[in-house]
Amino acid sequence: MKKVFVNGYGSIGSRITSFLQDDSEISVIGIGKYSPDEKVNVANSRGLDVYVPENKLDKFSNHKIAGTIESALDDCDLVIDASPGGHGYKNKKNLYEPKNIPAIYQGGESISGSESVSDLLFNSRVNYDLVSDKQHVMQGSCNVTGMGKILEPLRDSFGERIVRFDVTLIRRWADIEQIDEKLVDTIEMTEKPHHGDDVKEYFGKDAPLYVRAIKVPTRQMHLHIMDIRFKDVAPKPSEIHEIFTNEFGVATLWTVKGTKDIRDYAQKMGFNFTDTNMIHIHANMTTSIGDTVQMMYSDDQTGIVIPENHMLLQAMLFKKSYEEAFTHTESIFHMTEKKKKLQDYFSRKE
Ligand SMILES: NC(=O)c1ccc[n+]([C@@H]2O[C@H](COP(=O)([O-])OP(=O)(O)OC[C@H]3O[C@@H](n4cnc5c(N)ncnc54)[C@H](OP(=O)(O)O)[C@@H]3O)[C@@H](O)[C@H]2O)c1
Repeated sequence: MKKVFVNGYGSIGSRITSFLQDDSEISVIGIGKYSPDEKVNVANSRGLDVYVPENKLDKFSNHKIAGTIESALDDCDLVIDASPGGHGYKNKKNLYEPKNIPAIYQGGESISGSESVSDLLFNSRVNYDLVSDKQHVMQGSCNVTGMGKILEPLRDSFGERIVRFDVTLIRRWADIEQIDEKLVDTIEMTEKPHHGDDVKEYFGKDAPLYVRAIKVPTRQMHLHIMDIRFKDVAPKPSEIHEIFTNEFGVATLWTVKGTKDIRDYAQKMGFNFTDTNMIHIHANMTTSIGDTVQMMYSDDQTGIVIPENHMLLQAMLFKKSYEEAFTHTESIFHMTEKKKKLQDYFSRKE
């Protein structure tokens, strides 16, 4: 049994921890909290030990805590860092490297520049076999993970026939549980979005991928609008959908009117955290015109990276083959069953 510490208990950390508690191969040491708020009690009520930074101990005098983060890391096989973007790098330098602990970082970090956390950005579909000997690996962000799940199968199937990919990311403003974060009534434009460069870390530096991003006032998922240009006549929509039939974490849906329909269905079906943990191709929006395929898919912002973290953890901790890790992740996340339910419910109506 390997011991894992989850540093940060927000949207991502709380989800990862919950799934790890269901994993019989993992013992969760506890979680790291930085603010003395209600979430300390929530974590305790879920059977978790809460650890806090040594220099903040006095702020938590009214809360039940198990000790300091520094001490928790003394007997730890791997840390999943789920801190706000940029803090992962500081944690690497101040905590994980000095104690020689392997760590997984989230998508708000960087793998280039002076504050890079790793030289590898993980996507289970692309580079699973490269991570088993790494000490520090970054999991791609939700949009980066989602794009990979679409781009890689397309490239596998059509290869040289594809001339370029143009993607517009319509990003959600906040997560459902971030109730303190107000949605602002505007459409915000993102200068130099990192997502295209991040995808190119595994897709290839020269890949013909062009990404734009805007942010809109919703909590209900990201939506990607993608145009794929071909050298010759583009494949039919049915040929595009066909290649995703057996893709892990990609559901093909026909009757979704808006992204909230999916979240509502996930809630009705009792999916954990109301997440689907996947992306959803909106098949009714796929068109093929001349040399171009147009498609749209939504990306479960909070859920999509959680099974990916689980795959990554198994490669780093147990050096499992892709197939072994996949089988174990599937037994905990039930992705195939969730995909089937979603596809049945939002199936094409003749
Ligand atoms: N939200 C998403 O949809 C999403 C999707 C994919 C990837 N990500 C990435 O995942 C990471 C975490 O995002 P999030 O949305 O989960 O953030 P979040 O909800 O704001 O939670 C961040 C957590 O980190 C804790 N924290 C604060 N300072 C810290 C430190 N120095 N070290 C470790 N933890 C610290 C916070 O603790 P306190 O609350 O106690 O202060 C909080 O529990 C980011 O890199 C983000 O880009 C987010």
